[in-house]
Amino acid sequence: MRVLAFLNQKGGVGKTTLAANVGAGLVRLGRSVLLVDLDPQGHLTRAFGADPGGPGLHEALSGSAPAADLLVQAEGALLLPASPELAGADTVFASLPGKERLLARVLERLPEADACILDCPPNLGLLAVNALAAAHAVVVPVQAEFLALAGLGAVMDTVDAARGFNPGLTVLGVALTRYVHRKRLCREVDTSVRRHFPALRLETRVRESVALAEAPGFGKSIFAYAPKSNGALDCLNLAREIAARGLS
Ligand SMILES: Nc1ncnc2c1ncn2[C@@H]1O[C@H](COP(=O)(O)OP(=O)(O)O)[C@@H](O)[C@H]1O
Ligand SMILES: [Mg+2]
Repeated sequence: MRVLAFLNQKGGVGKTTLAANVGAGLVRLGRSVLLVDLDPQGHLTRAFGADPGGPGLHEALSGSAPAADLLVQAEGALLLPASPELAGADTVFASLPGKERLLARVLERLPEADACILDCPPNLGLLAVNALAAAHAVVVPVQAEFLALAGLGAVMDTVDAARGFNPGLTVLGVALTRYVHRKRLCREVDTSVRRHFPALRLETRVRESVALAEAPGFGKSIFAYAPKSNGALDCLNLAREIAARGLS
């Protein structure tokens, strides 16, 4: 099982949108997928119409329930939902020995899948550290906007630091999202990413798509909500590219 963390410490850059729809895209490509919602806000959980108010990742991490019993169906993938108590993870788990490897241990007890996608919270607290400790590779969603490159540099520093406790951690790729070709800023961000991270930039640019923004409100992936949209096309291409780079 390849564990891919969708990480960018900045909020609102498209982590959850890409985690959900790359996950659903991989299912459409015939891969088995496990999704884990590490954000106390539970957006990934809601995106599949599941309830982020019940037991979920917090119970799995604290060992109060077997993780496999907490999984729910998500369009052919299995989802470990967020739970509201995750908001207190930094204090609740602070004194536990091995607190950085709680998620890695939970994943060992979950059913095998080709890909396990971790939707990270928008900070570098204990949950993100757990994601970085459990992941094989990081996918970095980047919005084509002002200061995107500064954010990207910060993620690269974070990954470097995480290699201290997870030496094999790699960056699978940088995925540009909310791309609008007629906007000069978008083209400039793309060019800079290409220049600074030539090997890491994924070819697929996920375009700005109203359907991608609407789908989670209906508890559906883009493939169930608007299968013929640009968003569906882009996310399937991105899933294909990620599978080619990162899955065996
Ligand atoms: N390609 C896209 N086209 C249109 N809206 C998008 C796209 N990607 C993300 N969004 C919207 O941008 C906002 C932030 O995206 P989200 O995936 O929740 O970011 P994050 O998880 O990094 O906080 C959401 O309202 C989402 O619907
Ligand atoms: Mg999110």
